[in-house]
This record gives sequence, C-alpha cells and structure tokens, in this order.
Amino acid sequence: MTRSARSVVTAAPAGRVGRRIMVIYGTRPEAVKVAPLIRALAQSPVFTPMVAVTAQHRSMLDQVNDVFDIKPEFDLDIHRPGQTLTAITTRALHGVQAVLAEQRPDAVVVQGDTTTVFAAALAAFYEQIPVVHLEAGLRTGNPYSPYPEEINRRLATRLTALHLAPTATSKSNLLAENVDPAKVVVTGNTVIDALLWAVERQFDYGEPALADLDATTKPVLLVTAHRRESWGAPLRTVGRALARIAHAHRALRVVFPIHRNPVVRDAILPAIRDLPNVTVTEPLPYGGFARLMNRASVILTDSGGVQEEGPSLGKPVLVMRDTTERPEAVLAGTVRLVGTDEDLIVDTVGRLLTDPAAYTAMANAVNPYGDGRAAQRAVAALAHHFRLGPAPDEFQTAPEGPARARPEPGRRPPHTRNSPRAALPAVTA
Ligand code: UD1
Ligand code: UDP
Repeated sequence: MTRSARSVVTAAPAGRVGRRIMVIYGTRPEAVKVAPLIRALAQSPVFTPMVAVTAQHRSMLDQVNDVFDIKPEFDLDIHRPGQTLTAITTRALHGVQAVLAEQRPDAVVVQGDTTTVFAAALAAFYEQIPVVHLEAGLRTGNPYSPYPEEINRRLATRLTALHLAPTATSKSNLLAENVDPAKVVVTGNTVIDALLWAVERQFDYGEPALADLDATTKPVLLVTAHRRESWGAPLRTVGRALARIAHAHRALRVVFPIHRNPVVRDAILPAIRDLPNVTVTEPLPYGGFARLMNRASVILTDSGGVQEEGPSLGKPVLVMRDTTERPEAVLAGTVRLVGTDEDLIVDTVGRLLTDPAAYTAMANAVNPYGDGRAAQRAVAALAHHFRLGPAPDEFQTAPEGPARARPEPGRRPPHTRNSPRAALPAVTA
C-alpha cells in the first residue's frame, strides 16, 4: 500500500473537526461517480473526506482521478493483468481491512456493484464501521446478468447502513427486499453531476486520432464494450456486427475507445482493426469521453454509466445486453436493448442512420437519473444519518421496474422529457 499527501480537493480546512468519511473505490466508473461526492464532502462543514482506492483498475482509475484532481491518501495497488474475481476480492478485503483497522473512519462510502464494492463493504462490516452505499438498489433479478455485479450489489445491500438510491425504482427494489425505508434516500445519480461538470468545461478529446472529428458533421457511432458475461463468442459477434456496419455505411465514423482488458481486445479487434472508417483508441480521459458522447450520433454500449449519460445528452443509446437494471431511459424511449445479436445490432444501428423518423423518436434528451445535485443530497443524507442536519429533499423520478430486451413500446413518462428531440446530421447509406 502507498500513502500520499492529501490533494487540494480533499484537504479539509485547517483545524476543522468533522466526521471522517472514507470513500473507497477501485474502478473507472466508481471514480467518475464518487468524484462529485468527494468534492461535496470536502466543502461540507461537518465532514472530512478520506480517499482510499483498491486500484482494481490502474490506468483507467488514475485517468479519472487526474481529471477531478483527486489524489487518494491510501492506494492498495491491487491491479494485476488478467486478475480473477477471487484475487480481486481477497486482495481488496485484506488491504481495506488493514486501512480501516488503522484509520477507524466514522463511515465508509462505496459506490455501485464492482468486486471492490463488495469487498470494501465486507471489510467495513468486519470492522463494525457503518457502510454507506451510493447507487444502491439497482437490480435485474438475474444473478448472472450482469455477472458478477448483480450479486455484488445484493451483498453490498445486506452490509449497508445507509442506502443512497439514485431513483424511485431503485428505492422500491430495496424496500421489496425488506430494507428499512428510514435508511433509504433517493438522491439521483452522481454520474449526472460529473457529466454536467465535464460537458461545461469542454475538454479536448485527449486523443490525436480524434483531432479531425469536429471538422465534419459526418455521423459518428460511439462504441464501448467490456461486460464479463459477454467475454468470448458474444464479443466476437459484436466485432462482426461493427465490421458489417462500417462496410454498409461508408460515410459513418465508428469510434471505439476500447477497454484495456486484453480479453475484450482479442475478441473484437480482429474484425475491425483495418477498416478505414473505424477508429479504435485507448480509453479516453473522462472529459474527452464526455465530449465524444456529445459529438456522437448513436451510442452502442454495454456500459452502465454510459447508459445513464447518453440519454442526458439526447443520444439514442443501444445497449448490448439482455437485461438492464436501468429501466428508466428504456421506458422513456431513448435506450433500447439489442443484446449481442449480430443482425439486431446491425439492423437497429442501420435504421437509426437511415430513417430520420426512427432517429428522432429516440434522440430525446431525458434526465431520469439525476439533475446534477445528487452529491449535495448524498451529503445531506449523511448529515441526517449522523443527526447533524435535517432530512434531505429527495430526487423525484417516476417509479418503474427493471427492463428486459424488447421492452413494451410506447410507455414514455412524459415528465422525464426536458428538451426537444435532435435530428441526425447527414444521414448516410
Ligand atoms: C470491472 C468491474 C465491472 C465494471 C468495470 C468497469 C468487477 C468484477 N468488474 O470490470 O463491474 O463495470 O470494471 O470498467 O468488479 N485492465 C488494465 N488496466 C486497467 C483496468 C483493467 O490493464 O486500468 C485489464 C487487466 O488485464 C484486468 C482486466 O482489464 O485484469 C479486467 O479488469 P477487472 O477490473 O478485473 O474487470 P473489468 O472487466 O474491468
Ligand atoms: N468512460 C471514460 N472513458 C472511456 C470510456 C468510458 O471516461 O474511454 C467513462 C464513461 O463516461 C462512464 C464510465 O467511464 O462514466 C463508464 O465506465 P465503464 O463502461 O468502464 O463501466 P460501467 O459503467 O459499465 O460499470
């Protein structure tokens, strides 16, 4: 473990006394989603944030911390190429337990559903330190989809003292599992806080291969993929689908910032590596990726975070999974599940690129996941939990259940729409 000096972001004002809240995380999406909370805790008069990373991810984690100027005080550095779930769990459990035993924070915050989250929550429980779970209550109901995240988050729920649910749907999932309603607060998702912060700053792409992207209005298909349940044949199918899309739509630019996992690269790259209208890049810095989402015409992804960010930017998002624990944007009509079915991916992307009515029907900016004030509500919920402040106002969303592939058409909560639909620039064939 390394220990470093505290950053400008996390350092508490000299002499400030407050509850010490240790935020523990390990991967890129957790880093994006805890960053607004760490910043908000640092501004609170009643809390002092402490930042610890397992570094389950290494470069992809550091990339996000750099953008938000967060320098962890504790770095367990557990990342290894080709790491197994068991290795991540045991290394994180040992490392986090040692930090907690030494530091004794007043509470631990974990975010989401990675293996770091489960291990850190378990370590905190063993040390009898209360766990606060940010992004609590997401469920598909299928233990193997997503794998292992559905079980990680259910286990985290059992270990949690304060559940910060992003939406009314996630709150009802928790209540259905007999979680005490007094321990659940609907905050909105901090990913929207992070996204609004990044979009406002208009970062560069951070990637020379994309330097020419804003010189044209050609349509852009943004792709990301990494899910463990898709390793092997499903990811090879995604590669073939992308090649067919690139061949069929010559004026289209496919941009794929590819996950660092060699398993993902080996499965997908052979099919797309030499195509002139496909640009594969290393993972982009968060600010550059936010800019790319904004530039994209269509987003094809299996990412949880991107499923939440894309709708907020008014982008049609096609999700390469069979289930989603994020039903809100599916029901609002801006997200569609296409699984890893080659023909369905090719046909659905093709239709969006060539049929303006189909495009316009999905390009609908909605914000079912947050309004940019989730971190503020999370801090208020923590203060209330410690009897240091009043009950926070909750984020308001429509209650809906989890979605599965081919959702019922036409169910769109109109109150979630907040801006006009966009049109596709320069439709291609
Ligand atoms: C992990 C999470 C997943 C989350 C995803 C976000 C688990 C089990 N999985 O999946 O929930 O959606 O992160 O991306 O917690 N690698 C690097 N450098 C990095 C990061 C990864 O080289 O900075 C490579 C390594 O070879 C590593 C592999 O990617 O072994 C997989 O990383 P790992 O954290 O085990 O799983 P992810 O698929 O990234
Ligand atoms: N992201 C990024 N650079 C990239 C790809 C994604 O910063 O090249 C961000 C993205 O905006 C989102 C998060 O990483 O906030 C999602 O991470 P990922 O897809 O790895 O994980 P998931 O959300 O599926 O758990």
